[in-house]
Amino acid sequence: MACNVLFVFQITDANQARFEVPHEHVQAPSSPPTGPLKYRLELIQKPFGLKVWRTSPEKLLFDTTIGPLVFADQYLQLSAKLPSHNIYGLGEHVHQTFRHDTNWRTWPIFTRDSFPNGGTHNLYGHYPYFTCLENESGQSFGVFLMNSNAMEVTIQPAPAITYRTIGGVLDFYILVGDTPEAVVDEFTQLIGRPFIPPYWSLGFQLSRWDYGSLDEVKKVVERNRQIGIPYDVQYTDIDYMEDKKIFTYDMEKFKELPQFADYMHGNGQKYIVILDPAVSTGKRLNGPYEALDRGHAAKVWVTEPDGNTPLIGEVWPGETVFPDYTNQACVDWWVDEISRFHKEVKHDALWIDMNEVANFVQGSSKGCAENKLNYPPFTPRESEMHLQQDLFIADTLCMDAKHKWGNHYDVHSLYGASREVFKTNRSMVFTRSSFPGVGKYAGHWLGDNAANWNDIKWAIPGMLEFNLFGVPYIGADICGFFDDSPEELCRRWMQVGAFYPFSRNHNAQGYKVSYGADSLLVKTSKHYLNIRYTLLPYLYTLFYKAHVNGETVLRPMMHEFYSDSKTWGVHNQFLWGAHLLITPVLDPGVENVEAYIPDAIWYDFEKVRPSTRTTVNNGRMLHDFNLNLPADKLGLHLRGGAILPAQRPDVTTTYSRCHPMRLIIALDDSNAASGELFWDDGENKNVPYTGLNSKNFENITVMGVTGAPVSVLVSDGTTTNALTESQVNYDSTRKVKECSIVNVKLCL
Ligand SMILES: *[C@@H]1O[C@H](CO)[C@@H](O)[C@H](O)[C@H]1NC(C)=O
Ligand SMILES: *[C@@H]1O[C@H](CO)[C@@H](O)[C@H](O)[C@H]1NC(C)=O
Ligand SMILES: *[C@@H]1O[C@H](CO)[C@@H](O)[C@H](O)[C@H]1NC(C)=O
Repeated sequence: MACNVLFVFQITDANQARFEVPHEHVQAPSSPPTGPLKYRLELIQKPFGLKVWRTSPEKLLFDTTIGPLVFADQYLQLSAKLPSHNIYGLGEHVHQTFRHDTNWRTWPIFTRDSFPNGGTHNLYGHYPYFTCLENESGQSFGVFLMNSNAMEVTIQPAPAITYRTIGGVLDFYILVGDTPEAVVDEFTQLIGRPFIPPYWSLGFQLSRWDYGSLDEVKKVVERNRQIGIPYDVQYTDIDYMEDKKIFTYDMEKFKELPQFADYMHGNGQKYIVILDPAVSTGKRLNGPYEALDRGHAAKVWVTEPDGNTPLIGEVWPGETVFPDYTNQACVDWWVDEISRFHKEVKHDALWIDMNEVANFVQGSSKGCAENKLNYPPFTPRESEMHLQQDLFIADTLCMDAKHKWGNHYDVHSLYGASREVFKTNRSMVFTRSSFPGVGKYAGHWLGDNAANWNDIKWAIPGMLEFNLFGVPYIGADICGFFDDSPEELCRRWMQVGAFYPFSRNHNAQGYKVSYGADSLLVKTSKHYLNIRYTLLPYLYTLFYKAHVNGETVLRPMMHEFYSDSKTWGVHNQFLWGAHLLITPVLDPGVENVEAYIPDAIWYDFEKVRPSTRTTVNNGRMLHDFNLNLPADKLGLHLRGGAILPAQRPDVTTTYSRCHPMRLIIALDDSNAASGELFWDDGENKNVPYTGLNSKNFENITVMGVTGAPVSVLVSDGTTTNALTESQVNYDSTRKVKECSIVNVKLCL
C-alpha cells in the first residue's frame, strides 16, 4: 500500500490491556512513506484533540476538538467534525437513502438477528466504517473504527459524527483518496480484497423455506427447467434437516438428498444447503447425534462464565449449544463435520444463517447473571423490538459467556466473521452476519426482508453500501422473503433482481411463489435474466477487478460522476462497473420514471424505444429524463466508451460458457471505446487455463457509428484483416446507428 494514503491512530489505556480486534490483514506501514504526504496530523494536548488535514489542497478532514474525549472502561466517546455532508456507509442497517441524513440520526452497531423493515435498528453485520466525499473535485476519505463492541454513531448537522462504544479501544484508520473509488481500493487493501465468486454463482438462484419434501423441490426444479428460465442454483433451507439438526438430513421426506446434487449437475445446475451454527443437544431419531458428541469430546462450545459448562440456548432445533469459532479445536471440528456431511450429501456451496449469533431465549436457558457485562451502565440505542424488552442480551448469548478470545461482550460481532469458518474447500460461502474483512471469503444477502414496495427500494442503498464495505457479492431476496408477493411487485423485483450481483429469489414458509408459465412476470424475468446471462462475462470481469484493484461491482452513480452534485444522492439507480446504468421501476402503478442520466453519451441497451435515444445536447440525453418503462421493462443504458464482453445466453452458466462470445462496443465523444475481459475456468482452481484460445467472438456490435462504414478492419495486434461486405451489417434506420460484424475469430 502506498503509505501516504493510510493514517492510523489508536487511543487506548496505557496501564491496562484492553480488548482489541484480532485481525490478519491490517499492518502498520513497514517503511517510512516516500514523496509528499497526503495528510498531516495535528495533536492538541490540552484539552486533548486530533486534527487530520489533507495537505493538497489543505483541508481539515477529521477534527476531534469539536467535543471532549471520554475514555471509561465501558464508555468511550469521541466526536469529529467532518468537511461535508456527503457521508456514506456505516452498517448494518436499512438506510432509506444512500447518502446519510445528517440531522441528528443515531445508528446502533452490533450484530443482531432482526428484520430489515426500515427502523433505525442494528442488523446482522457490524461496520463502523464510512466514506466522505469532500466536494466536486472527487477528493474523498474513509474512516474505519476497528472496534467490535456494541456502539452507536450519531450523525449531526455540523456536519459531525459522534462514536459511543462500550468497550475495546479507539483504533482509527483514515484513508485519504483522490476519488470515491480510490477509497474503496484503500479500504479493501486494508481489510482484504473480495474473493472472485465462482462463475456459476453469478447465475440466477431459487430458494424457499419449507418445500416440505424433496419431491416438491424436484417439481419446482422441473417446472422452472420447463419454462426455460435461466437458472443455475437450487437451495434447500432448514426443512431438509432431520428435526432441524445441522449435519443431518430428513431420511424420509428428503430420502434421496445424497443424490440431489448429481441430479442438478446432470442439467448443468448446482445445489446449495443452509447451515446454522447452533447444534441441538438432543438425540437423533435412530441413535446418537454424532456431530454433537464429537463436538462435546473436543470441547468446542461457547461456555458459561466458568469456562467449562457449555452455554445452553434455544434455536430452530430446540435446545442447543453454540460452536466457539475462536477456538482452533472448534474450527477443526467444524471443517471435519462439513467434510463428513459433504461425503453424505453432495452440495456445491454453503449458506450460513443465524450467526449473529441468534438465540431464541435471552442470553441462555438459565438467564444471565446480574453483572456489568450483561447489564452495562450504558447500552447503545437498540432496535425498537429489543427496546421493549430493554435488554442488551436479547436474542443472543449472555455477554459474560466465554470464548477462547474472551467475553461474548467483546467478540459477539465477530462471531459470524471468523475466517476459519469459511476456509473449507467449498467453492463458495455466503453469510448473514459479517464484519469488515469477510468479503475476502464470503458474500452476503440483506436478510429477511418482506414483499413490499419499501423493501424493493431499500435493497439498493444496502447493496451499494456493501460494495463500499468490500463485500460486492451482495443481493436481497428477490420478491421479498416474508408475505405473498403481489404480481406487479414480484415482476418489478425480478427485473431489478436480474441486476443484483447475487441474484436469488427466496421465499418464506407458506407464501406464494408461482405465477404461471405464460405470465408477463415469467416473460419479463426470462428476458432480463437472458440479458444478465448475456453480460455475465462483463460481470465476472468486474468481480475480477474488485479482487485485483478493489473496485466496486455495483457502483453508485456518484462514484463515476462526482463532479455533478446531483448524483450525490442518487440511490434508485445504480451502475454495473463504470458503464451499464440500471434504472428500475420501484413503485406500484408507475410506467414513467424520472431517471437521472448524467452527462455522457448513453445508448439504450435494448434499442426498443428510439425516443430515449434521441440525441439531445450534442449526442447527450437530457438530465431528469422521463423514461417510459411499461410493465415488462426497466431502463438499461450503456455509456459511450465501453466495450462489454458478452456471450450467447443459455438456461445455465454451464451451457452459456460453451457458447461463442460477443463484444458490445459503445463509442464515446471521440469515437473510441475500451474494455477488458477476465476469463478462466470459472472455479478459480489456479490451473493454467487455455479455454479462451478456442473461443469464437461471433458478433461484434458497434453502437454510435455515424454513416455506413467503408471498410472494417480487425486486428489482433499482429495481423490485420479486412472484413468482407457479407460480414458487416449496417443498420441506418436507428437514430443511434450501429453495425454488426459476424463470424470473426479473434486470436487471443
Ligand atoms: C474542493 O475543495 C478543495 C479544498 O478545499 C478546493 O481547493 C477545491 O477548489 C474544491 N473543488 C471544487 C471543484 O469545489
Ligand atoms: C478438502 O480438500 C482436501 C484436500 O484436497 C480433501 O481431503 C477434503 O476431503 C476436502 N474437503 C471437502 C469438504 O471437500
Ligand atoms: C450473433 O448474432 C446471431 C444473429 O443475430 C445470433 O443468432 C447469435 O446468437 C449471436 N451470437 C452471440 C454470441 O451473441
